[in-house]
Amino acid sequence: MSKLAIVYYSATGHGTKMAERLAMAGENAGAEVRLRHVEETRDPATFAENPAWTANYEATKDKPAATGDDLVWADAVVFGSPTRFGATAAPFQTFVDSLGGLWAQGKLMDKVYAAYTSSQTLHGGQETTLNAIYTTLMHWGGIIVPPGYTAPLKFADGNPYGVGHVTGPDNQNELEEATLVALDHLAQRIVSVADKLTR
Ligand SMILES: Cc1cc2nc3c(=O)[nH]c(=O)nc-3n(C[C@H](O)[C@H](O)[C@H](O)COP(=O)(O)O)c2cc1C
Repeated sequence: MSKLAIVYYSATGHGTKMAERLAMAGENAGAEVRLRHVEETRDPATFAENPAWTANYEATKDKPAATGDDLVWADAVVFGSPTRFGATAAPFQTFVDSLGGLWAQGKLMDKVYAAYTSSQTLHGGQETTLNAIYTTLMHWGGIIVPPGYTAPLKFADGNPYGVGHVTGPDNQNELEEATLVALDHLAQRIVSVADKLTR
């Protein structure tokens, strides 16, 4: 049984829903799954006027937060971050920056990795965010397993780099069916490749 860690940051909850879908799909694919959010770095008072941000913070703050140990434990990791100015969110990057010691010991290499993101607008930078994550993974010696166009459903969600959700003008779009099945496919694919490597 491969070990899959879903490690993500989410402010307003879209990334949390995507992570939960990935975790369910990973379990259905036979993996042992750790679902871990990256802790909020801002004082909740600074986003109190944003109900979605507050609701996601309250819903996740008492759940286990991501640590380096979750990555060491895993055979496969899916990272998730919202797109902010075409790149990853600062709390996600703070977590990544905390991993230098594990990287130096070679404890992050030779694992299977993929990533997902969300953005408010269709061409708002999802691909650059995913590529930013993948650049870090190259430094780690990670085995990047993008979904590509490896199944017909990838021609519907249209993102060969990972999975992306467009949250819409009011940041309230629900996950579309094409995105949900693309998340299932990403989890199945990464678990399948990890199973082959760990067998
Ligand atoms: C500081 C900041 C920068 C953002 N930059 C972008 C951007 O470059 N392109 C875009 O389409 N959306 C941008 N957004 C919108 C976020 O991508 C969107 O709110 C996010 O995907 C929601 O994910 P979450 O609910 O998991 O936090 C930005 C939001 C914030 C707060």
